Amino acid sequence: MARITASVYTSHVPAIGAALDLGKTHEPYWQKVFAGYDYGKQWVKDNRPDVIFLVYNDHATAFSLNLIPTFAIGTAAEYEVADEGFGPRPVPKVMGHPELASHIAQSVIQQDFDLTIVNKMPVDHGLTVPLSLMFGQKDPVKEAWPCPVIPFAVNVVQYPVPSGRRCYELGKAIRRAVASFDEDLNVHIWGTGGMSHQLQGPRAGLINREWDNAWLDKLINDPEACASVPHIDYVREAGSEGIELVMWLIARGAMADAAGGPKPVLKHRFYHVPASNTAVGHAILETV
Ligand code: DHB
Ligand code: FE
Repeated sequence: MARITASVYTSHVPAIGAALDLGKTHEPYWQKVFAGYDYGKQWVKDNRPDVIFLVYNDHATAFSLNLIPTFAIGTAAEYEVADEGFGPRPVPKVMGHPELASHIAQSVIQQDFDLTIVNKMPVDHGLTVPLSLMFGQKDPVKEAWPCPVIPFAVNVVQYPVPSGRRCYELGKAIRRAVASFDEDLNVHIWGTGGMSHQLQGPRAGLINREWDNAWLDKLINDPEACASVPHIDYVREAGSEGIELVMWLIARGAMADAAGGPKPVLKHRFYHVPASNTAVGHAILETV
């Protein structure tokens, strides 16, 4: 039986990818960001997943206003690294897990969540920056990411976006789907994006440390209450791009306590301002 044993939460700031790719990690500005990931890099080596179910958002890269799936699951064998305007990031292509992904699609759709099934999808910084943060820089030719990844794209770019509640309930359905897969697999689920940031308009540059940290407390300790936070609170308090945080609730809903099981253990928590225009947040929860 496959099992979700841990969840990882992290921002996906594109400038972090650029700092890695351009060899700027030693600069004091970036050192403060990367220091927050030292624990997670060791932890993921010691707790190697067989598969990562990676919840992220596409930034008008694979999708556009022509097609806006609310929830899209990647069932392909592999995914190319997207060119977001400066050429593709020099990182390995992402290998998928078509068998588990197809099984999750079947199970979650039968649990009444309408997923879009995607077999060709270049993956942008929303997916590759979290991989780089947790696994470090990998040679695109000589190296591979340590395990297959199932990309799960959520629309948080174009309104209407899904509610935190729907994301949390979807996480519960994903947990049930994974548990009904026959093969013995250790699965990690990652919720990425956020924390507070606004990239445009009169409030561009908005960061809200207090709100971010209170929200993170709630996500960890009282996810039910966190799932009830309405959209307007994210937008008002965490800026227009702070809405990316609803993706963390998918990962949180997939932890055992959301289904009445034991509370997960908090292994690590990190918060730092700034990275580019964004407050960086990161946490790791493990099933006991
Ligand atoms: C920035 C952050 C994001 O989440 C993103 O998708 C693009 C840019 C930024 O901080 O600049
Ligand atoms: Fe983003």
